Amino acid sequence: MRYEEGVLAKGAEAVLRRRELFGLPAVEKVRVKKSYRLPALDEAIRAGRTRNEARMLEAIREAGVGSPRIYYYDPDGGVIFMEYLEGIRLKEVLEGGADGRVLYLVGEALGRIHSRGLSHGDLTTSNIIIHRGGVFFLDPSFGSRDASEEEMGVDVNLFLEAFRAAHPRWEELLKSFFEGYKESCPFWKEVFKKAEEIERRARYVKGV
Ligand SMILES: Nc1ncnc2c1ncn2[C@@H]1O[C@H](COP(=O)(O)OP(=O)(O)O)[C@@H](O)[C@H]1O
Ligand SMILES: [Mg+2]
Repeated sequence: MRYEEGVLAKGAEAVLRRRELFGLPAVEKVRVKKSYRLPALDEAIRAGRTRNEARMLEAIREAGVGSPRIYYYDPDGGVIFMEYLEGIRLKEVLEGGADGRVLYLVGEALGRIHSRGLSHGDLTTSNIIIHRGGVFFLDPSFGSRDASEEEMGVDVNLFLEAFRAAHPRWEELLKSFFEGYKESCPFWKEVFKKAEEIERRARYVKGV
C-alpha cells in the first residue's frame, strides 16, 4: 500500500505521519474525528484512547519492555508525538521466515508486562516492531494498568491467533513463545489456563 508523502499508516482510527521534532525522528499519531458518533462522545473517546495509549506506552517502558518514547501528547487534540522506531514489524519478520529466537523474545516481553499487572489489549503482529534486535510494543490504547488474568489471557490468545495466520511453521515456533513467557511471568500457569478457557469459549460460539 502506498500513501501520500510522509504518511506511515492510515488505520480505521488514526493517521500516522513521519515527523521531525527538534531534529529527532518522530511519529505523529492523530486520531481522526468520526462523524457517525455524537460529537461530545467522539471527543471523549478520542481523548480517552489517546491518554491511555500514552500512559500505557510509558508503563510498558517502565516495566522494562521496549516502546516508543512519548515526546508530547494532547488528549483533547487526539495527538501523540512519539519516537520513530526504525525497524521491521513482526508481521514482516514472520513473512520472511523468523526463527524461534524472536518468538522467545516476544513471549518474554509479554510475560514481563503481565508480571507488572499490565495488559496490551491489541497484540497483533502489526503492533510489534523489532528494533535494534529487541521487541517493541506499539498501539496499546486498549491496554490496562490493572489487568485481570482474563485480560492477560486475551493478550495471549490474540497474539497466537495473529501468529498462526502469519507463519506457516507456527507450531514449531510456539514452544519458544511459551518458554519466553514462562521465563518472565511467575503466574504463567494461571494465564495459560485462562487463555485456553477463552479459546474454548470462542470455539463454542463459532461452533467449531
Ligand atoms: N513509533 C513508531 N515508529 C515506527 N513505526 C510506527 C510507530 N508507530 C506506528 N508505526 C507504524 O504505523 C503502524 C500503525 O500504527 P498504530 O499505532 O498501530 O496505529 P493503528 O491504531 O492505526 O493500528 C504500525 O503498524 C507501524 O508500522
Ligand atoms: Mg496498530
